[in-house]
Amino acid sequence: MTQDEMKRAAAAAALEYVEDNSIVGIGSGSTANHFIDLLAKSMIPLKGTVASSIKSAERLESHGIKVMDLNQTGPLDLYVDGADESDAKLNLIKGGGGALTREKIVAAASAKFVCIADESKLVDVMGKFPLPVEVIPMAQSYVAREMVKLGGQPALREGFVTDNGNIILDVVGLEIRDPVGLERKINQIVGVVTVGLFAARPADVLILGTPGGAQIVTAS
Ligand code: 5RP
Repeated sequence: MTQDEMKRAAAAAALEYVEDNSIVGIGSGSTANHFIDLLAKSMIPLKGTVASSIKSAERLESHGIKVMDLNQTGPLDLYVDGADESDAKLNLIKGGGGALTREKIVAAASAKFVCIADESKLVDVMGKFPLPVEVIPMAQSYVAREMVKLGGQPALREGFVTDNGNIILDVVGLEIRDPVGLERKINQIVGVVTVGLFAARPADVLILGTPGGAQIVTAS
């Protein structure tokens, strides 16, 4: 099975969590794209969806699926999204696609967060994948210096602007042994909009696509 087929297998298994006539939060990236396509095929009746990026909203709408404003929906029952890394406690690194802020907002507003990923995303200690940090443009150098103090090496994601008009610093060199503490520290740096560590609100369920099919992982 290819990596893409494993992503699709995880996305297919997440359909089980979608209730009829609900409003579903939908993430961003190639695994979330599979979920969007499979959701459209499934014909599960929905009240609508909330998208965590402009790209996902466009893909949903291209299938004729209604996209709603989170301010109009109230709390969501379910959020389905991919990840760049997960540890065994289902703390995540997200934001490889740059949609981390809206993803964190939709995850926060959802009762259940189902993360879908291929098996390569499950790691012992997070930090190999560069940690994305969304930053207000004028704070770029200041935040970069603060990240160095935390032991990381930040690099500007060249030519990239987030859906919110900000920049991304991708930070390498961090061994994330205390995800909750590091998320709090980085969020407190002035000029940081969001760090792509999802630890204060981790996933509730991780569905891993493996060569043997989808496997459900709960926090250990
Ligand atoms: C986008 C994300 C994605 O969920 C993450 O990058 C995983 O992407 P993919 O499903 O393409 O592997 O956080 O901001």
